[in-house]
Amino acid sequence: MIKGDTISKVILLCGSPRKKGNTMGILKLCAEEIEKQGVEAEILTLVGQDIRSCIACNKCGASGKCVFNDEVNEIVEKLKEADGFIPAVPVYFGTARGDIMAALQRIGKISRSGDQFLSWMVGGPIAVARRGGQTLTLQEMSMFFIINEMIIPGSTYWNMVFAGEEGSFVDDEEGIQTVKRFSANVAKLINKIK
Ligand SMILES: Cc1cc2nc3c(=O)[nH]c(=O)nc-3n(C[C@H](O)[C@H](O)[C@H](O)COP(=O)(O)O)c2cc1C
Repeated sequence: MIKGDTISKVILLCGSPRKKGNTMGILKLCAEEIEKQGVEAEILTLVGQDIRSCIACNKCGASGKCVFNDEVNEIVEKLKEADGFIPAVPVYFGTARGDIMAALQRIGKISRSGDQFLSWMVGGPIAVARRGGQTLTLQEMSMFFIINEMIIPGSTYWNMVFAGEEGSFVDDEEGIQTVKRFSANVAKLINKIK
């Protein structure tokens, strides 16, 4: 459910372990596009975090929180107040870096076991890689959005950027244009349905 009368907000989650990596650089550009549409944007990061996987204890159903009291519980609290969610990740060995999938699975489990705060949130994944694996990564991450009744707007291409060395994302002009347009579309859609 799109949240109340408060100012609309999109949470962008960086799944890279590199503080100044390509994924973070890309998300900064995405945040700017969202803000141009009058929607707040906040970037969160998994840098320095040690994200555990869901252990299927089902305790989040009663408490609304994960038994592992790490960054995931903080992300959940922020998502509960937000209208959009864009997780971005580097591709590792052809699929999404492990931490982000562990985080998404725990976030999804908390939402589905409780008040389904993800339902009707707008967003979608972004995948960054030097050479290959973005499409599978996007497909893998899209599963989280669809099962949680979230809404993924399109862009002029899939949300992928080619980049290897830190900072090299700037060379993929088409990739940058694609994810900027996607981010603007996330904000525009929130403005339309809220
Ligand atoms: C363990 C590891 C595995 C990687 N696997 C792939 C891969 O399968 N395909 C690819 O194109 N790039 C791969 N890369 C390169 C990163 O996806 C690429 O450098 C990306 O820009 C890193 O994003 P970041 O700067 O935000 O951390 C890999 C890098 C690492 C460290």
